[in-house]
Amino acid sequence: MSANDPHRAGLFPHRHLLGIEGLQPHEILGLLDRADQAVEVSRQVEKIRPVLRGRTQINLFFEASTRTQSSFEIAGKRLGADVMNMQVAASSVKKGETLIDTAATLNAMHPDILVVRHHAAGCAVHLLARKVDCSVINAGDGQHEHPTQALLDALTIRRHKGKIARLTIAICGDILHSRVARSNIILLNALGARVRVVAPSTLLPSGIDRMGVEVFRDMKEGLKGADIVMMLRLQRERMNGAFIPSVREYYRFYGLDAEKLAYAKDDALVMHPGPMNRGVEIDPAVADGPQSLIREQVEMGVAVRMAVLEALAAHLPNH
Ligand code: NCD
Repeated sequence: MSANDPHRAGLFPHRHLLGIEGLQPHEILGLLDRADQAVEVSRQVEKIRPVLRGRTQINLFFEASTRTQSSFEIAGKRLGADVMNMQVAASSVKKGETLIDTAATLNAMHPDILVVRHHAAGCAVHLLARKVDCSVINAGDGQHEHPTQALLDALTIRRHKGKIARLTIAICGDILHSRVARSNIILLNALGARVRVVAPSTLLPSGIDRMGVEVFRDMKEGLKGADIVMMLRLQRERMNGAFIPSVREYYRFYGLDAEKLAYAKDDALVMHPGPMNRGVEIDPAVADGPQSLIREQVEMGVAVRMAVLEALAAHLPNH
């Protein structure tokens, strides 16, 4: 079956991946199944599965990134695409070019896939998708969504627990500023998990209880009986004002150490999207400990991005 097979296109009927919101559970599961195959491809000596041969992928990152950008680059290359990383810091954007002009310039180069990270929540990536002719993937837009992170987290969980449905998953830390939390809440709810958020009131968005989560302000209460403990970084670059009294106090009440982790199930697993701030939201001994899946999340990141690129490839024109 080729990547452009109409049957395959029907499995994921979207030209863009702008968020988890709007995806059907079977579409999410279909991407996870594809990603399981991509894990196998990535573990082989010969890693090429050339469904994007002759195609051009541009990574356009307006915000800093290590894992996401490099894994999109590796994923594109494993699928045979020509991948270009646009250096925004050295580009005309710094000379005052608007997003729309940048989009029009890139569009004129006929890319097939544009991977975009932008600080404007919920609008920049959607606007770009309307202005270009190619497929657009949201690699994180402000505090809004980070769909491939939620997919890779779900893949990591499913490979360990065999399912997502009915697991108790505690997402802890800076929920307010986190696109990772938002995308995960939507995805995990869609697949039937019991989702909890654990944070001080200052780091919880208003209306969070309407997102189908159980809200805890006490870490030990929130971790009781959890299957998965997902830690988040304090997004200090998105904060203006004081959201926590001090880092020391935050770590004491909300930092994940062995003592707090003991409240979760014995076989609970620890996750973090990275970058970690050791000693702020997580004790290094837990981050590197036997219950941690943090390194594995990085491996799953490449596989999930291969799966998403492949799913969108089915919608690219053949000629
Ligand atoms: C996250 C992001 O950029 O939203 N990181 C990532 O993609 N691996 C989380 C974060 O920056 O804290």
